[in-house]
Amino acid sequence: MTNELYAVVGNPISHSKSPRIHSLFACQTGEPVEYTAIQAPIDEFSGTVRHFFERGGKGLNVTVPFKEQAWTLADHRTTRAEKAGAANTLFLDQENELVADNTDGVGIVRDLQNNHGVALKGLKVLVLGAGGAVRGVIGPILAEQPAELTITNRTVAKAEALVRLFAKDAGATELSACGFEAPDQPFDLIINGTSASLQGDLPPVSANVIGPATVVYDMMYSLQTTTFNQWALDNGAHRVHDGLGMLVEQAAESFFVWRGVRPETAPVIEELRTD
Ligand code: ATR
Repeated sequence: MTNELYAVVGNPISHSKSPRIHSLFACQTGEPVEYTAIQAPIDEFSGTVRHFFERGGKGLNVTVPFKEQAWTLADHRTTRAEKAGAANTLFLDQENELVADNTDGVGIVRDLQNNHGVALKGLKVLVLGAGGAVRGVIGPILAEQPAELTITNRTVAKAEALVRLFAKDAGATELSACGFEAPDQPFDLIINGTSASLQGDLPPVSANVIGPATVVYDMMYSLQTTTFNQWALDNGAHRVHDGLGMLVEQAAESFFVWRGVRPETAPVIEELRTD
């Protein structure tokens, strides 16, 4: 069977683990998937997408800095992409129209629940950050009905805007926004969705948010313990996880959207850890 073409588009892209992840999925499932990485020039995202699909490409993942552009470019958006305001998955529908999806939120929820045994229902959750990455995960987190979801950010207005955007989806969850100085009690789960660690910075949140049972999740990943997770461990967190599992889970959901086949993620996460 001839392979069908998929790719991840970003700039830069050479560091991307997506080609490796999708090759492992293809091997595991026997699906005829060939997956490459494409670096789009910063001002040429839409042309790159058009060209890819014109030459028969079946699906794209989209990463930094193009996720918002992918969302704007699409003719249609799935409900979860609509709310996320950004897209990480593109494909053509039966009318050859471009559809945008977002699998990031499902990715973090599956990683927490299936891989780390953290059921979100009823938990007190603190989310740090209110940028694009956080907006992408709020909807799927709320769908699991945590008791509280507090969004804290350096620019409080952005956290408040997210609370307004998701107010209708909150159900029984107490959804609120605040600055970093406000949270002062232990949470069950803390998710770091800021990009502070890219600059080696820590978000200036009080260590009082960490108690002996607190689970900490950094949406970033790195070979060593991330700066944020190290800080959490130093302050007595119960356990910490990084975003590698989320990366593999969002990839698995994209693979499922494109192929209708759900790969097993645990062996792939394991493989990437030891790469
Ligand atoms: P992304 O797509 O990664 O979410 P983004 O939309 O630029 O990128 O958002 C980055 C997030 O990290 C924001 O919440 C940002 O805070 P502001 O909204 O106040 O800018 C946060 N962030 C970045 N650098 C930070 C730092 N040094 N300390 C604390 N928060 C930081």
